[in-house]
Amino acid sequence: MDDRFERYVTELFAAEDPILSKIRARHAAENLPSINVSPEEGKLLHVLLLAIQAKRVLEIGSLGGYSGVWLARALPPGGELTTIENDPKHAKIARDAFDLARLHGRVQLIEGSALDVLPTLPHGFDAVFIDADKEPLPTYFDWGMKLLRRGGLLLCDNAFFHGAALDPNDRSADALGVRAFNDLAAHDPRLVATIIPVRDGLVIGVKMRDRA
Ligand code: SAH
Ligand code: DHB
Ligand code: MG
Repeated sequence: MDDRFERYVTELFAAEDPILSKIRARHAAENLPSINVSPEEGKLLHVLLLAIQAKRVLEIGSLGGYSGVWLARALPPGGELTTIENDPKHAKIARDAFDLARLHGRVQLIEGSALDVLPTLPHGFDAVFIDADKEPLPTYFDWGMKLLRRGGLLLCDNAFFHGAALDPNDRSADALGVRAFNDLAAHDPRLVATIIPVRDGLVIGVKMRDRA
């Protein structure tokens, strides 16, 4: 998207409060990779959760907690974000971010590898936001579909993967993972999905049925 349009949306609809700005500053100070969602994508996730009155949300890939704050702030008292992170340094910074945002009561950060943690989670999430490693994306798709309630939202970042998803000559494991995820989202009869072209692309789908 034209940068001017992105700036317009961000300034008008996704202006950050001092807490989100502080979290981003810490992110930079600790040299975390700049792969967190943008403010406009964070605001989009927040609005989507409000629209479905989400109470239980799962995130795969916490990094420094930036997207997690946008997600958790959409939850009512008693709601809970479960977020999975396998890097101990990222997990510590994310926990600090949730404390700073006074969201610790609403966020459960599970430190571990997603493929180990996912089988331990109870079913029935209102939304699942996938934003971690790209090679296992088809497996994350299966877990997301299994863990979502009917009517729940499947969300996945980096649908375009900087254009790699659209480039049939890119046979890297990451590109193949993203492409396979998008194909599943497009064709699985349980899901109605599309891609919102925000930042690097956000897959959004509604799980309509438990079985094909
Ligand atoms: N959602 C975050 C960005 C996540 S970046 C935000 O927008 O703010 C991806 C994160 O996933 C990194 O912190 C990385 O350490 C973590 N990650 C990568 N592979 C993982 C895996 N297999 N299990 C758990 N976490 C993983
Ligand atoms: C990159 C961006 C992401 O949002 C992500 O989840 C992984 C990688 C990147 O820019 O490389
Ligand atoms: Mg991402």
